[in-house]
Amino acid sequence: MAPRPHLLQHYKQKKRGRTDTPFPKGFLWGASTSAHQVEGGTHSQWDVWERANAHKLPRTAKYLLGNLKNWQELQGRAAIPETYICGDAVDHYNRYEDDFKIIKKLNMDAFRFSIEWSRIEPESGKWDMKAIEHYRSYIRKLKSMGITPFVTLWHFTLPEWFAEKGGFARRSNITYFTRYVAKITEELGDDWSFVITVNEPDTYTALSYLRMFWPPQARDFLAARRVYVNLMVAHQQAYAIVKAHNLDIQVGTSVNQSVDKLESQFFTAKMAMWVWQRFAKRWFLDSEKMTADFVGVNFYLTNYFGWAGRWTNPPEPANDLGWYMEPRAIEELLIDIHERYQLPIYITENGLADSHDQYRQWWLQETIVGMRGALGRGVDLRGYMHWSLLDNFEWAFGWLAEFGLVHVDRATMKRTVRPSARWFGGEIKRLRAESRRAGR
Ligand code: BGC
Repeated sequence: MAPRPHLLQHYKQKKRGRTDTPFPKGFLWGASTSAHQVEGGTHSQWDVWERANAHKLPRTAKYLLGNLKNWQELQGRAAIPETYICGDAVDHYNRYEDDFKIIKKLNMDAFRFSIEWSRIEPESGKWDMKAIEHYRSYIRKLKSMGITPFVTLWHFTLPEWFAEKGGFARRSNITYFTRYVAKITEELGDDWSFVITVNEPDTYTALSYLRMFWPPQARDFLAARRVYVNLMVAHQQAYAIVKAHNLDIQVGTSVNQSVDKLESQFFTAKMAMWVWQRFAKRWFLDSEKMTADFVGVNFYLTNYFGWAGRWTNPPEPANDLGWYMEPRAIEELLIDIHERYQLPIYITENGLADSHDQYRQWWLQETIVGMRGALGRGVDLRGYMHWSLLDNFEWAFGWLAEFGLVHVDRATMKRTVRPSARWFGGEIKRLRAESRRAGR
């Protein structure tokens, strides 16, 4: 039985569209990944950090996840340092052709992945042509199978040498990033139609430079501000490089977006929500106004702001990482983004950690209703990519979270399509037929 948010009284939705609107013709359905999280055998600053910190991360996991209802189930694995080492990941680097067949079997026609900068440029200024050829074959394979590639140029990981120079915290380092973007665009750009320059600059800045969870584990407000602004500049310059190669390539970013609701009318709640929206949600997108062809939305969280200015999210339903789930709220978010930016929207990530596949179908159903509602209100939504295709390495939580439509047994690397994914594949087919009948 599908779970429902039990605190429905919180769910004061202002704007709702008709939920029977068909998806537009050509709407892209797909899934998302990132290189470090699935490929295996990478050598970036993340790999170095994992090895140096794996023995400490069990304490962090206990601190962050220890109160969850599923902690009993997690605690054995959470205590072992190997859980926090990506290692062979799910060997997608070698098994990508089989993984693409799964995408096809699920009736999907879009796939988001990232190019691993540390593979392309393992030493400053030295290009690894084998790695470049790998991605060329990878992208061409996708296209030959009728799957539209969404190429992400940077998804959190840095070459070690770049991290040693200070990473994105130094303005003068941006030129290293643009040198990489220029090279990879010159080599592979002819095969691109969608590019995401940077992924979730907001999450990266907050977790790496304010909250000390990710490398370089800083708590430095000024450095955080510099990183965030430098990522804006990095995006703008990358946009110009890719567009100079081919104006037809659609370029944007993927930004982490939440739905925010006031639980109290007290000024502290309003102020906290304003600060969150201004700095975490909108600043980056606002800075992109002239340099984005679409908005890439990553949506996981709905936040309630209480009188003390803190999140007071209902405890249930929650995913395996304890994140409160209100997937239907995506409708409000899409309407807001549409009204603010007036650009085509692609959902570039959306999903949940759900190892027992208990909530995933419900999440997808609710999300589809929300997307239809937004379409009914005139939102120019053009695609949906679920996070994630495969169970993968969830950063500082390592192998503790399973976001995949497809389960991976890491001992054998065997892929098993989860029941919710099978359902989703059928639903995609049905929705496409519905659009055809409606002549959309
Ligand atoms: C990131 C992914 C991550 C996912 C789930 C997004 O913040 O882009 O890399 O795995 O959320 O936490």
